Amino acid sequence: MSRLLLASDLDGTLVGDPAALEVLNAGLGSQRDRWVIAYVTGRTLDSTLSLLAETPLLRPDLLVTGVGSEIHWGPGLEPDVAWRRRMGRGWSRERVRAIASFFPALVSQPPHCQGPFKCSYTLAVAPSERTLEGLVTTMRRQRLRARLIYSSGRDLDVVPIRSGKGNAVRYVAERLGIPPEGVLACGDSGNDLDMLAMGGSAVVVANAQPELLASAPLGAYRARAPYAAGIHEALVHFGYLLGATSS
Ligand code: GLC
Ligand code: MG
Repeated sequence: MSRLLLASDLDGTLVGDPAALEVLNAGLGSQRDRWVIAYVTGRTLDSTLSLLAETPLLRPDLLVTGVGSEIHWGPGLEPDVAWRRRMGRGWSRERVRAIASFFPALVSQPPHCQGPFKCSYTLAVAPSERTLEGLVTTMRRQRLRARLIYSSGRDLDVVPIRSGKGNAVRYVAERLGIPPEGVLACGDSGNDLDMLAMGGSAVVVANAQPELLASAPLGAYRARAPYAAGIHEALVHFGYLLGATSS
C-alpha cells in the first residue's frame, strides 16, 4: 500500500484538546506504517522541540519549522541542506529587519521566535493594505526575495519567497515520492493556507482563525469539530479511518 503524508500544523490544530489528541493518536497509531507524519509549524525548531517534549504527540518522521523555512528529518533531526539552499536564495535577515524598522506598526516578536530564514512581527491591529503594499514594494525595490504571511489576526512573518508551508510540504512530498493526492494537510490559521491549497486533501478545523475561514480553498474539508477531533473527523470523511459508533 502506498504511503500517505499527514502534514499537520501544531498550535491550534493538533494541539489544543488533549482528550481529542489521545483519540486521534490511537486511530493513527493503529496504522502508523501507512503514514509519514510531518509537523508543519510557524515555531522555530527549538520552540517546536519544547512543545513536543510537553505534549503526547506521535513521534513525527520529520519537522517543517519556521513557516516552511526549515526542514529536519528523522529522529536525528537531520537538516535538509538542499531545501535551505534552494529556498534561501536572495534572502537577507539584516535587510528585512532594516526595512521593517521603517514600519512602526511592526513590533518584533521575541528572539526565540526568530529564525535564520524568518523575521516575525506582532501587529496590534490588522495591517492596512497600505502597510503591506509598502513593505512588499520596498522589499522588491531592494531586490529582496521575501514574502509576507499573516496569521491569527496578529502575526506577520517575513520569509524567503520560496518558503511557506505549502512549498515546503510540496518539496517533502516530492522527496518521498508521494503524489499530491496522497497528502492530507491540516490547519487553523493564515500560515496554513498555502499548504491547504496544495491540491491534496485538506482540513480546516472548526476553531480556525477568521482569516483562514475567509479564504480557505473550496475543496478543503471544513470539520465540525475543533483541534485534533477535526483531524479525526477528516480522516473518517476521507475514508482513512472508520467512524466511531458512539461518541
Ligand atoms: C508561531 C510562531 C510565530 C509565528 C506564528 C505564525 O506562533 O511562534 O513566530 O509568527 O507561528 O506563523
Ligand atoms: Mg496554528
